[in-house]
Amino acid sequence: MINNPYNPGIPVNPRYYANQKNLLSTFRVNVNAVTKSGGITQPENLAIIGPWGMGKTSTLGKFEYILQNEFKDTQTFSSFVALKPANCEDPDTFCACILENLFKVYKTTMPLPKQVLDFIKDELIILDTWKLSRLSVNSPEFVRAGQKVTAINFTDTLLRFWGKLKDSDIKIVVIMIDDIHYVMLKEQGDIFYNLRTDIQMLGMAGVPFMFIISTSDILYPIIQDFAEPFTRLFDRNELGLFPINGTMEQIRKPLEIESIPLSVSQNVIEKIHEITRGHPYFVTLIMRELLFRLPADCTVIDDFDKYIPDALEILAVKKFDADFASTTDAEKEVLFKVAALREDEFMPKEVGGKTTVTLLDRLIKKKLIVKTGYGKYRFYTHLFGEYLLSQKVRFDRGN
Ligand SMILES: Nc1ncnc2c1ncn2[C@@H]1O[C@H](COP(=O)(O)OP(=O)(O)O)[C@@H](O)[C@H]1O
Ligand SMILES: [Mg+2]
Repeated sequence: MINNPYNPGIPVNPRYYANQKNLLSTFRVNVNAVTKSGGITQPENLAIIGPWGMGKTSTLGKFEYILQNEFKDTQTFSSFVALKPANCEDPDTFCACILENLFKVYKTTMPLPKQVLDFIKDELIILDTWKLSRLSVNSPEFVRAGQKVTAINFTDTLLRFWGKLKDSDIKIVVIMIDDIHYVMLKEQGDIFYNLRTDIQMLGMAGVPFMFIISTSDILYPIIQDFAEPFTRLFDRNELGLFPINGTMEQIRKPLEIESIPLSVSQNVIEKIHEITRGHPYFVTLIMRELLFRLPADCTVIDDFDKYIPDALEILAVKKFDADFASTTDAEKEVLFKVAALREDEFMPKEVGGKTTVTLLDRLIKKKLIVKTGYGKYRFYTHLFGEYLLSQKVRFDRGN
């Protein structure tokens, strides 16, 4: 088929977004309450937590879409920050990144008046000057005589910005920060402490700034003894595997929306659900492959195996081979031991004890293993375990 609406490589088109009804409803109710209350109701900050590929970025995109479409008669301002590890080197760089995004890649439901645009222009000049002074620390040619390297004042900038937005009748500002766990990977806990203070000060000043963070679930177990007070500012929302109804919606919705005359039978949906256990990334990946394999005139699909007899192989080519190649021999050995357990969860002592913990930490950073609780781990997807079992045979032959 030529029209293929499934693409696992990018966040889902918000119109195809499936499942997660409660989460979307939490967001809608929250925005509605804040924007209709005339300043009395404060926004609730949200944390979207989930392992790789479970729909974090897609969810933030959906929130943005909801603001733009369902609240188009309400004045809103939102910005989306795709955090990179380089933005988490220190608290100032982090704040500069958030502010730069806020002023450069925002979305509004109304044209911004001149006074707000002027404010944004001035703030961007300040940020550029700051960046230049930052560079000058390492490159003397940039140093300008008498220039002071001032730190970024996050709260103050946002309060002044709110002053302008309020005059323009904006009712809510939504700041979304995607992949905030990079802060942990860079071991920059100060960023959390500072951000917590900033968010609290904004709350105390009564300004309607709603912060939404997304993080892989590595953050929450680690953060408990680290930046626990920070996490208390957020309402936790965990993204998990889809139930069968969620998978069904994920499969059928794009076809309906794009009026593609293809009907996917219940047993095919069940088969895909069984293989993927409702992991949205892999559902999309399989559907993409399936549609490419169908003849152009196909209108009903009720035999999955006829078109996809080799699901694991497809997943291997598209994803697991690269995952596997990213590991060292010592890490591979641990991975094989874990796979051989054939369990949903495992403890380090089952695969070699204390020394493995360091290896497991490295595999967490490579996003292949997820820490599920104190001393408990699992593969980021059970399919990777199955792949490893098939790989082990080849690996042993090769050695
Ligand atoms: N709610 C959803 N509805 C439909 N597809 C989804 C949904 N959540 C995730 N997906 C699919 O999974 C893929 C990975 O989602 P993404 O948002 O990039 O995950 P994450 O940011 O958690 O790594 C997307 O390309 C999309 O195909
Ligand atoms: Mg993402």
